[in-house]
Amino acid sequence: MPADAYALPAGFLMGASTAAHQIEGGNTASDWWAFEHASGTRVREPSGDAADSYHRWREDMDLLAGLGFNAYRFSVEWARIEPARGEVSHAALAHYRRMVEGARERGLEPVVTLHHFTSPLWFAKAGGFAAPDAADLFARYVETVAPILDGPVRHTVTINEPNMLALMQAIRRAPDSDYTRIAPDEAVSEGLIAAHHAARDVLHRLLPGVRAGWTIANQVYQPAGPGDEDACRAHAWPREDRFIEAARGDDWIGVQSYSRTRVAEDGPLPVPDDAEKTITGWEYYPEALGEAVRHTAAIVGPSVPIIVTENGIATADDARRIDYTTGALAALAAAMRDGVDVRGYLHWSALDNYEWGSYEPTFGLIGVDRTTFARTPKPSAAWLGGLARAGEIPA
Ligand code: NOJ
Repeated sequence: MPADAYALPAGFLMGASTAAHQIEGGNTASDWWAFEHASGTRVREPSGDAADSYHRWREDMDLLAGLGFNAYRFSVEWARIEPARGEVSHAALAHYRRMVEGARERGLEPVVTLHHFTSPLWFAKAGGFAAPDAADLFARYVETVAPILDGPVRHTVTINEPNMLALMQAIRRAPDSDYTRIAPDEAVSEGLIAAHHAARDVLHRLLPGVRAGWTIANQVYQPAGPGDEDACRAHAWPREDRFIEAARGDDWIGVQSYSRTRVAEDGPLPVPDDAEKTITGWEYYPEALGEAVRHTAAIVGPSVPIIVTENGIATADDARRIDYTTGALAALAAAMRDGVDVRGYLHWSALDNYEWGSYEPTFGLIGVDRTTFARTPKPSAAWLGGLARAGEIPA
């Protein structure tokens, strides 16, 4: 092992992540599909067929296993499972059962997300997570899904990035506001926390072998300059921390990290003109991951281990993806050396996919042709899979 490598502990999960709406295609009963097709929407292009993974999931899993990964995070789509209130699609349940079994058969640990940004349209129309019965409705859906997880699945994510969901709701309500400063919607935040705890209780009751957690978007905040430390403390993290705190008592927590935000006296600052930016306009700052896991560990304490459930970069330059991920993994290794209990690293994303409004930001380790859906692993995929095989990361 090279001197600048860190040996991963036994059982460490190394793989990649996706989400149903972003790769499956044709998610017609969901609120996002309706949003994409509404007149006057700000969405640049609709999701359409996405990467056609609803049909090509076997090929995707074959590729990931062949690259050397031992884990795959994907989501099951509530809008397919319960397309109308109280109406369950047994065909959709059977589909996802085949997927969780298929992952296990290929040696991929399935990390299954139950809600990744999209809801059934009927649920959204009834008020979404701000509605008084949201937690009950979500818990009922989780009860419906539980039997198909039984056996192959050991890790579930109840809800992906609740802090972003609550923020998106606030932005939809006030589209012209400065999104770096707007507060997450309060009713949605409360509803999401209640729904998470209700879902966790259902999973613990029905599936004692399953470890339940949720995944938080971690925006790393840093003082813009000397003297901005107090301002940074005042302005930073309130969007995240209540959701991280809600994970105390969970079996694990997912950390999702991409970049950082600098904070001055007046609040968060835009990315400086001279900073390198990725296709999503975020600052190229791989070291964020180290700080994100340290911040999360300090809040949840040693009884809640961490899995990095997303980390990656939107770039057309795959060599830059490798550079970014090298820096992120080195920051992760340093945190682990300092005692942060990290049990897995799942790169965002397995495939180029629908980035909530556009296909332009390419986050994938595997490229997807937009008309033939042919998959082409990029050099970064072979590189990261090689690290998974070797059981070590750059340090
Ligand atoms: C967070 C979200 O969970 C995922 O859906 C999104 O594509 C990535 N980050 C990149 O923005």
